[in-house]
Amino acid sequence: MAKMLVNNIQIAFDDTGSGSPVILLHGFPFNRTLWNEQVTALSDAHRVITPDLRGFGASDVTDSPANMADMAQDVAALMDSLGIERAVIGGLSMGGYVVLAFYKLFPKRVTALVLADTRPQADSEEAKAIRAKQAKEAISEGMAGIANSMLPKLFAPASVTNKPQAVQRVREMMMTTKPAGAAAALMGMAAREDHTETLVQISVPTLILVGREDPITPLSDSENMHQQIAGSELVVIDNASHVSNVEQADEFNSHLESFLNKLN
Ligand code: MLT
Repeated sequence: MAKMLVNNIQIAFDDTGSGSPVILLHGFPFNRTLWNEQVTALSDAHRVITPDLRGFGASDVTDSPANMADMAQDVAALMDSLGIERAVIGGLSMGGYVVLAFYKLFPKRVTALVLADTRPQADSEEAKAIRAKQAKEAISEGMAGIANSMLPKLFAPASVTNKPQAVQRVREMMMTTKPAGAAAALMGMAAREDHTETLVQISVPTLILVGREDPITPLSDSENMHQQIAGSELVVIDNASHVSNVEQADEFNSHLESFLNKLN
């Protein structure tokens, strides 16, 4: 793990392998290790960069809401520092919100997009109110409430039965997230822009992946993105829910690798 001062905060990241750069952004409330299986699979042929987004993992926490555009600016500044002009940018869930913000800000820096278990819409008023409540609870009571309410939605029943270690690992990832970092991201997600209109502007190869049983960012969201993004590819992963990259890592990786191979 390395750290870099970007936009006046320390951002932690792993930079593994060599080749064409692929940057993968984790979801909420996780950290860069969400991508462990993908780093292992891709780093033979690619330079894989997995940052801890601001507020998460070993990166600094900010006092103000961590907006998706701020996180996107952090990624761009990290790319500058690492001498990377253009890259494949991928993200899962909140990471996907950041990917869309990044594309809107820096379309010329993107060679291709990977959108996993995510969606383009902004939060409803009801969802914003739930985020505000969760942010307060995270600060006053810690991460257990968020972890306990999210865990049943993150994994498909098959994963719970067959992959208890993966479930435990993701639970620990959530529990070790700093409450102030989670609260800042919750407020940032609540304030995020609607990117439905951004989709039709996307002109780079795009891979969309989704767990068939994902209740947080359901299949219908991915189908809609697939319709809106010209030439995009949609992969639906069976026996997977919201963390499809962990639950069915081999299948996820084989689709990702063949997508990346086609770009070269
Ligand atoms: C995530 O996995 O990043 C979150 O579930 C996204 C969200 O809460 O909207």
